[in-house]
Amino acid sequence: MTSLPRLVVLISGRGSNLQALVAAIRQGRLHATVAAVVSNRPDAAGLHFAVAQGFPTRVVSHVGLSRTEHSAALREVVLPFEPDLICLAGFMRLLAPPFTRTFPNRIVNIHPSLLPAFPGLDAQRQAFDYGVKVSGCTVHLVDDDLDHGPIVMQSVVPVLDDDTPETLAARILAAEHKTYPAAVEQLLHQPWRIEGRRVVFQSYQSV
Ligand code: GAR
Repeated sequence: MTSLPRLVVLISGRGSNLQALVAAIRQGRLHATVAAVVSNRPDAAGLHFAVAQGFPTRVVSHVGLSRTEHSAALREVVLPFEPDLICLAGFMRLLAPPFTRTFPNRIVNIHPSLLPAFPGLDAQRQAFDYGVKVSGCTVHLVDDDLDHGPIVMQSVVPVLDDDTPETLAARILAAEHKTYPAAVEQLLHQPWRIEGRRVVFQSYQSV
């Protein structure tokens, strides 16, 4: 039996996307194993879940470190876990070349808007305030720029007339929990290539 692809999941907070990845693994929708969960914050609630699941956990605090120093420290912690894919799941720090160059095209992020619209913090409120009629979530490969790398998968969520930023964020989060495991499964198990900024999946028929 071949061994399952190894995920290292990076979090900063609640960890509901981590939980969604784990649920998908348990339900057979995602063929992977969680090798470790790493947080930049010692108080991240998602760490409690990770410990309860028996996953190795590490904290690499960003406090007092430059972006480059933090990325270098993260690399040293993540490398021994030999990840096939690194999943940012609410990881709220920018990564720099010491990390991104070590894992080219092997870092993926979920963002709560239809990128390139509304990168950065509080994307759901940005979309609400702008008045867009649809928003959603984006899974993308990670480069050195904020919420910027090639797009893997997007899901659309309508903005309703009676929405608040909170109700919209809740529906987007539900979409995230379906989209992220599906995108990770596809990246791990379907051949793909990058053409310019496009992530192109090869259908099995044309292999
Ligand atoms: C999610 O909505 C995720 O898309 C967002 O943070 C939240 C984390 O929730 N990430 C970003 O905004 C990254 N730019 P979680 O900790 O419950 O998964």
